Amino acid sequence: MESNRSHQARRRSTRQQNNLNELSGKDWIKFTKSWFIHRPEPRGDRKIRHPASFPESLVRDFILFFTRSRQLVVDPFLGTGSTLVAAIETGRSAVGFEIAQKYATISKKRVADALNGRENGITPANRHALLSEVVRADSTKLSEIWRKREYPPADYCITSPPYWNQLKRHSIRQRSRVAKGLDTEYSDDPDDIGNIEDYRAFLSSMKHVFDEVYKVMKPKGYLTVITNNVFTEGRMYPLAFDTVSALSQEPYAWTPKDEKVWCQDDKTLLPLGVYNAWVGNRHHQYCLIFRKE
Ligand SMILES: C[S@@+](CC[C@H](N)C(=O)[O-])C[C@H]1O[C@@H](n2cnc3c(N)ncnc32)[C@H](O)[C@@H]1O
Repeated sequence: MESNRSHQARRRSTRQQNNLNELSGKDWIKFTKSWFIHRPEPRGDRKIRHPASFPESLVRDFILFFTRSRQLVVDPFLGTGSTLVAAIETGRSAVGFEIAQKYATISKKRVADALNGRENGITPANRHALLSEVVRADSTKLSEIWRKREYPPADYCITSPPYWNQLKRHSIRQRSRVAKGLDTEYSDDPDDIGNIEDYRAFLSSMKHVFDEVYKVMKPKGYLTVITNNVFTEGRMYPLAFDTVSALSQEPYAWTPKDEKVWCQDDKTLLPLGVYNAWVGNRHHQYCLIFRKE
């Protein structure tokens, strides 16, 4: 009869190799659920005044699923640097591109703090020789800059592009941003794709940026785009769904794989269209998953 010890050794040797990440099977399966609720701790640092930042704890979960330690993450719409902070915290390298000087400056400061271990969750083990760079540039030129700086191919991209020009639109949420002292536009730079008025032109510029990311991504690398449909001028613009269509177009066609829905059940319900017409309280966002195949 086979001894218990040799049985265990045989099981270990037949255990499948994990080609994508360093998670246990249990954690892998948990992450594949199609929706999640994420309630990050409120940010301690009042200086991070970006109107549409995503929590680094959320980015961290995606990075842990789609990469292994020391692999390279890219974010073409970096904002205040959450992706770089999450990458440092998980022991990954990362390069982020941001067009607005003020956000690039905040990102650089946060990266320096994270590398010095002044932000929560940084351990000395995470701090070893990582590439953590903020590039103040227009992401439509990303691949050329990447080549000039001789970065290796990226293993994963996670990002949140502007939600078309929604930040500039007059809305109840915009008035609340003003009250909190947050920006109602990212910049007045014409190359900031959040300043493009025409919806189709916006989609095409956004697609251009993801073509650039495709060029620097290793084969089989994944991309996660956090975005949403938008409601404006009395109708829905299916931005999330159009993002899937646009990014699947040749010649740099990302293969759509799935969506994970981020349910935001801690947002305040606003009195939209009450007693008059349907206007939904949109309390979810899409995390769209693509692969370079
Ligand atoms: C939704 S925000 C990203 C927020 C970010 N995830 C964070 O946590 O702070 C989109 C960002 O894209 C930047 N952006 C817009 N057009 C760009 C371009 N052509 N190249 C690089 N960055 C751009 C904007 O300045 C803005 O900060």
